[in-house]
Amino acid sequence: MEQRTRESFGSRFAVIMAMAGSAIGLGNIWRFPYMTGRYGGAAFILVYVATSFLLALPIMLSETIIGRRSRSNTFGAMENLAPGTRWKWLGLLTVLSPMLILSYYSVVGGWSVEYLLKSCMQDFVRADSGEVASMFGSFISSAWPPVIMHTVFLLMVAGIVLAGVKSGIERFTKLTMPVLFVLIVLMLVYSVSLPGARKGIMYLVKPDFSRLTAEAVAAAMGQSFFSLSLGVGTMLTYASYIRKDENIFASGVGTAVSDMAFALLAGFAVMPAVFAGGIEPGAGPGLVFETLPFIFNKIGASMPWLGTAISVIFFITILVAALTSAISMMEVGTAYLVEEKHMNRFGAVAVIFCFVWAAGLLCSLSFGPLSHVRIFGNGIFDFLDKLCSNFLMTFGGLLFTVFAGWKMKTSDVRDEFTNGGTIRSNEFWFKTVYFLIRYVAPAAIVMIFVTNLIID
Ligand code: PHE
Repeated sequence: MEQRTRESFGSRFAVIMAMAGSAIGLGNIWRFPYMTGRYGGAAFILVYVATSFLLALPIMLSETIIGRRSRSNTFGAMENLAPGTRWKWLGLLTVLSPMLILSYYSVVGGWSVEYLLKSCMQDFVRADSGEVASMFGSFISSAWPPVIMHTVFLLMVAGIVLAGVKSGIERFTKLTMPVLFVLIVLMLVYSVSLPGARKGIMYLVKPDFSRLTAEAVAAAMGQSFFSLSLGVGTMLTYASYIRKDENIFASGVGTAVSDMAFALLAGFAVMPAVFAGGIEPGAGPGLVFETLPFIFNKIGASMPWLGTAISVIFFITILVAALTSAISMMEVGTAYLVEEKHMNRFGAVAVIFCFVWAAGLLCSLSFGPLSHVRIFGNGIFDFLDKLCSNFLMTFGGLLFTVFAGWKMKTSDVRDEFTNGGTIRSNEFWFKTVYFLIRYVAPAAIVMIFVTNLIID
């Protein structure tokens, strides 16, 4: 195996913060509440939690094992562990797929920059409710303002990635992730204390199994995939920076638990407010951007400073969560260009910036001037989101589990999992996890894949 001097994360805490930083993002605060609202509240959450452990965690561990074993970017990992085989295409696919995700993710990241600025300028508090109602629609359908915000967001991402793994990614995630938990708890405490919040809490704890259709189950699995950043090489790339003496099972479980905990906290921060404001929980992707400003507006009517403070806290939380995820996507391509194409970090980040910016431009304009462009019946933004979260992520996840479960030697997988047999407790877990990696995860992914094909 080729030896290179590579950066590593400094400690277990740094590893978990970086991986959790990738996992915790718009998927938790923006996507999880509206998916829960759409697919039946508590019943959806139960399936999501079960699949996160039984299915998503094994995929994450597969990626982690491959990443740390090869100490390489996604393409290099395949070339190191299965030289000269067609697995290199998986390596290449997973260089491309996070760039595609980043292009629309960055547009939503841009919305959160705009909404943070609006909050700071007290726009939600000052406007009347009619103006609040039309704000989101008129913002995303305008041509340049969302493009400018997409650019601002992407520049922030590029700046952090450019600073490197240790001084950029590690430093930023170690600093911001704990703050993020504090902020979401503050939101939650406020939200559950609102009059009428009880209904929202009940919605999240009382399962309604009648709404749990096959589509809902597939959506719950898809959500756990998206939320844990799986199948697109981000966890693989981050794991390639984990030191050899680190316990990857513990780091993986730590990441999955933090991600799930954050999604639940976000659910309890958003839903009670949604119900308290008399808003329909299944409102869809606009739930957070379109409807929460109503609540900030309502609070602001009697206490303007409180409405402003709560909305600023909320959009800072979304922005930071989006940034820590977006940097993990950009790092995948950066590692590839630096290690395989021998570019310097600046050149690599610049190339990715241009590609993602241009693709993001089309996504952003697809809500306005390019709304007439349809791909298989979807606008550009929706098409990319569906392509990535329903197909590329599941397909990549499937291939990573097959690679770790069937292509790699069992002894190598065990060696990574137990650090050469030195971590006794992991010896105990190995058989179960290996069984999930080899059989349960691939079978379940094929099932989601087929369901998604039928539904679309
Ligand atoms: N997990 C991130 C979120 O929940 C999204 C993501 C997907 C990040 C794929 C990296 C790769 O927002």
